[in-house]
Amino acid sequence: MCPDAAAIQALFQQNVIPSYGRFDLVLSHGAGSYVYDVAGKRYLDLGAGIAVSCLGHCHPAVTEALLEQSRRLVHVSNFYYHEPQGRLAQRLVQLLGPGKCFFCNSGGEANEGLFKLARKFGHETGRFEILTAHNSFHGRTLAGISATGQEKVKKGFEPMLPGFRQVPYNDLNALRAALSPATAAVLVEAIQGEGGVTAATPDYLLGLRQLCDEKNLLLLVDGVQDGHFRTGRFQSFQRILEGVPAGDGFCPDGLSMAKSLGGGLPVGAFWVRAPYAELLGPGTHGSTFGGSPLACAVALRILDVIQREKLAENARQLGDSLKSGLQQLSELFPGVIRAARGLGLMLAMELAPNIPHLPGDPDKPQAARFANLLHAAGLLTIPAGGQILRLLPPLNLRPPEAQEGLDILQTVCQRLGKTP
Ligand SMILES: Cc1ncc(COP(=O)(O)O)c(C=O)c1O
Repeated sequence: MCPDAAAIQALFQQNVIPSYGRFDLVLSHGAGSYVYDVAGKRYLDLGAGIAVSCLGHCHPAVTEALLEQSRRLVHVSNFYYHEPQGRLAQRLVQLLGPGKCFFCNSGGEANEGLFKLARKFGHETGRFEILTAHNSFHGRTLAGISATGQEKVKKGFEPMLPGFRQVPYNDLNALRAALSPATAAVLVEAIQGEGGVTAATPDYLLGLRQLCDEKNLLLLVDGVQDGHFRTGRFQSFQRILEGVPAGDGFCPDGLSMAKSLGGGLPVGAFWVRAPYAELLGPGTHGSTFGGSPLACAVALRILDVIQREKLAENARQLGDSLKSGLQQLSELFPGVIRAARGLGLMLAMELAPNIPHLPGDPDKPQAARFANLLHAAGLLTIPAGGQILRLLPPLNLRPPEAQEGLDILQTVCQRLGKTP
């Protein structure tokens, strides 16, 4: 083992495909809401691996589940049955409603499953097209970038796969106008994550359901980033529709999950509502690693902890107070933070244009430069595009940790902007 940051970075430069723009940080270990770099510096991790480490780093319950299950059975082929996959599917069905689950390893792969579901659904009537939203993000596979509503992910990989078209988000009329005889499904995020934390309106969600029923289209929701209790309910569409007339009755036909589902272990899944749950019959879809005993045992334990420790409630309450803290900062430092938004523990700070005295290469996006400043001050956040930083902390974040994050932000804002 080589503890030297420069040496580790050199290993990457020589041997790892440079597809990521990485920050200048070499991390070594973590505990709870904190990670440590190889020099021993501590960071408050409000990014949680992009909404993945929902119980923080190295939670003892996750370690225990990994150890216990790894002594019993790590992997078997999906030719066979085993208890953890059956039990995890049952838990997800209980959370979502009558239907069935398929297990895979990532969000991109979960969305691939939904694309295949839509193709199978429309096949007999010659329909294959899936409409998605501008600014959406659905993964880095070839179908994922074809579905994604951001040009930057498609660039250099054209031609895109046929059968995907993007329409403005939160605009039902635009969607209705875009329907063609080939349209089979609509796929949306209830809160766009990579797109900068933009939530669907309740009317949009309810209107989508109605339109899909009317036109016999599948309504598919990508819950990879905003799901798993991050906003205070299992799925963010449930939070968005709380208290809205007829909101309780809203249910998509398919839902993709990943990220927090495995808490750091690569676990993905998609759920399909009962009427369509048999569409992908034997031999139509598969994954060697998907739904392994190890992955499912960990995902089950994470659900137990979330339930036992009432972490959905924590995400809601602490998220609300963190958001009001961010809003106060944006009022105090309008030249640095233009606005704060989000739901639960899925929050975003939109940076003001041309922040004075922001260090770093002016050709680099402000979000990355601001994130660098926060790193120096001991805080990890996640950029979304050039102007937005996301906070996607563990669901078990504690109030003093949230306050510590706000204090660090305030110090950095003070340095940049005018001291109030
Ligand atoms: C909404 C959404 N869908 C899909 C994906 C892709 O997931 P993965 O990177 O696990 O393939 C992401 C990843 O950020 C996402 O945010």
